[in-house]
Amino acid sequence: MPEEKQVGFVTMGQAGGGADIREIGVGMLGYAFMGKAHSNAYRKIAYMTWPPPLVPRLVAVAGRTESAVAEAARRYGFARYATDWRELVANDEIELFDNSGPNNLHAEPTIAAAEAGKHVVCEKPLARTAEESHEVWQRVAAAGVKHMCAFNYRFVPAVRLAREMLEAGELGEIYHFRGRYLQEWGDIDDEVWRFERAQAGSGALGDLGAHVIDLARYLVGEIASVSGTTRTFKPGRDVDDAFEAVVEFEGGALGTIEASRFCSGRKNAFAWEINGSKGSIAFDLERLNELQVHLTGSRPGDRAQGFRTVLVSEADHPFWEHWWPHGHIIGWEHSFVHELNHFLTAIAGDGDVGPHGATFEDGYRAAEVCDAIVRSSESARREEVSYRG
Ligand SMILES: NC(=O)c1ccc[n+]([C@@H]2O[C@H](COP(=O)([O-])OP(=O)(O)OC[C@H]3O[C@@H](n4cnc5c(N)ncnc54)[C@H](O)[C@@H]3O)[C@@H](O)[C@H]2O)c1
Repeated sequence: MPEEKQVGFVTMGQAGGGADIREIGVGMLGYAFMGKAHSNAYRKIAYMTWPPPLVPRLVAVAGRTESAVAEAARRYGFARYATDWRELVANDEIELFDNSGPNNLHAEPTIAAAEAGKHVVCEKPLARTAEESHEVWQRVAAAGVKHMCAFNYRFVPAVRLAREMLEAGELGEIYHFRGRYLQEWGDIDDEVWRFERAQAGSGALGDLGAHVIDLARYLVGEIASVSGTTRTFKPGRDVDDAFEAVVEFEGGALGTIEASRFCSGRKNAFAWEINGSKGSIAFDLERLNELQVHLTGSRPGDRAQGFRTVLVSEADHPFWEHWWPHGHIIGWEHSFVHELNHFLTAIAGDGDVGPHGATFEDGYRAAEVCDAIVRSSESARREEVSYRG
């Protein structure tokens, strides 16, 4: 008989590199679209980023309908559920409050959780208006906890690579940012919270436009003024269905930002381009692993001019340490893994939320730009954006 190989089993407590990783209790408000994306991320962080900064422990999830939230808890792996988010705020096992609820439920629960000493991550837009967003930022900052507004597109590898190129000056002086976020589902009669101002604050503007504004700020810099027009195509609706805006950046760049839910054939078309004195870069979310790059100054006589496609999956590309051999591409859901891993790293004391994560100040500033676009549409004039401290 050949000698049997001894297979060794070790428990977590005995394992190598991760033996003393602290757990962090997570409480989540909402369990639908974003609740699913965030739950998926917390679970993946625990094993795909090794050693993780903290091991997320899914303590409780809150929703309105008991049977549905109970099912969500079981599905995602939360130990408990609640039909009132206040139970999460009162739960001492929860150190991180994740607000994945609709926009009208961002301010009160997020502030309450922060004032109960919990770190808070809140989905975008931070709140329904700049006023409300400012209060959330101020109250949460005063509570002294870590805060992050979930602008997840900052955590797409190609977007981070773009930021690194811009920071290194590889594009030279920046002349233009052109960003658009287009969807097609707006022409429906259903009652959806996103179509109600009282719940959503705004329509395509805060929902899709806020993402474009955040990346414009992250990549190019602060927006100084806007000339915008909003439009509601569906009669009876009190939020915008679309907007177009010309934006001027403090650094001198000129840009356009648009978003619409009325672009037939456009599923989730978030694309942007930046043009500078030394080249251009362009990104399209529907080709998330790619960055289009054109750098000027190539050899004389080189006729292979123009954009080339960089597959952002090399070992030294952003976030790639967590994944696969190059070329084995990743998806939209992984932006949330990177984002929440970044937040856990900040909570663990190994870095700040900003500048790569959007703080609540960033969430507030994006809301100021959104409000300025509404003001400009009403006044039919260019509006300065003034940011409060
Ligand atoms: N980062 C992104 O790419 C992205 C994408 C979609 C949505 N969002 C944002 O995420 C947030 C949630 O959007 P969604 O698409 O997940 O919405 P959704 O409608 O799919 O889910 C909302 C969740 O909130 C729960 N909820 C509603 N009222 C509640 C209450 N009173 N108490 C407890 N729970 C309640 C619902 O049961 C549901 O689980 C919004 O702020 C939205 O703007 C961000």
